[in-house]
Amino acid sequence: KAGLPLRGKKVLINAGPTYEPIDPVRFIGNHSTGKMGVALAEEAHKLGAEVKLILGPNSVLPKTTAIAITRISTALEMQAACEAEFGDADIAILAAAIADYRPANPVTEKIKKAGSPLKIELVENPDILAGLGKAKSENQVLVGFALETNNGLENAVAKLHKKNCDLIVLNTPTAVSGFGSDTNEVTLIDRKENKIKLELKSKAHIAQEILHHIIHNLSV
Ligand code: CTP
Repeated sequence: KAGLPLRGKKVLINAGPTYEPIDPVRFIGNHSTGKMGVALAEEAHKLGAEVKLILGPNSVLPKTTAIAITRISTALEMQAACEAEFGDADIAILAAAIADYRPANPVTEKIKKAGSPLKIELVENPDILAGLGKAKSENQVLVGFALETNNGLENAVAKLHKKNCDLIVLNTPTAVSGFGSDTNEVTLIDRKENKIKLELKSKAHIAQEILHHIIHNLSV
């Protein structure tokens, strides 16, 4: 229907950081605020989609209450929530900054200073995007994000193929884009390795352009 191109479509989006517990009061996290993923959720809702948002701790929230939100904290919880929803989704967009590693043995008591170096063993978290890429069916569209500090385009193309995505949104972390910022500057990369640069603009406008690209080029 004109104006509501995502009407009847189910869109799964994840956003924000994950917190990986070290002990009851400490965690390993990152600087993600969830702004880009939440902007995507809001814009997908405006385009008529039924949106499910899986949101990490300390993230911003959507302005509308029409978006179903599942709050999670760790990467393993994020994985369980995403896998539970993915089967039903027409489009999945993984914008969350999931911790690649978690402490191997989080302890139940607060760690006390011992006067000697503290070693924390880390184990790798599952790659949620890659898992969904494996499970993906013909008519599902899977979109990943990439954050690279060097060889961005080359690494993002490799990531797209490795994780079986239809589109990768390459972020460039600078003062006016990336974590915490209200604006962003990204490059979209599709399976034919076309590269579409979206110049610096608000995250809401970037979200609109990402969704328009999905609607017009990825047959949803
Ligand atoms: N991602 C994920 N599960 C993880 C790590 C990342 O699903 N455990 C997803 C992110 O949500 C994002 C994409 O993978 O959509 C890219 O994340 P990024 O951190 O740039 O890449 P990595 O896969 O972690 O690769 P590398 O560490 O080699 O850069």
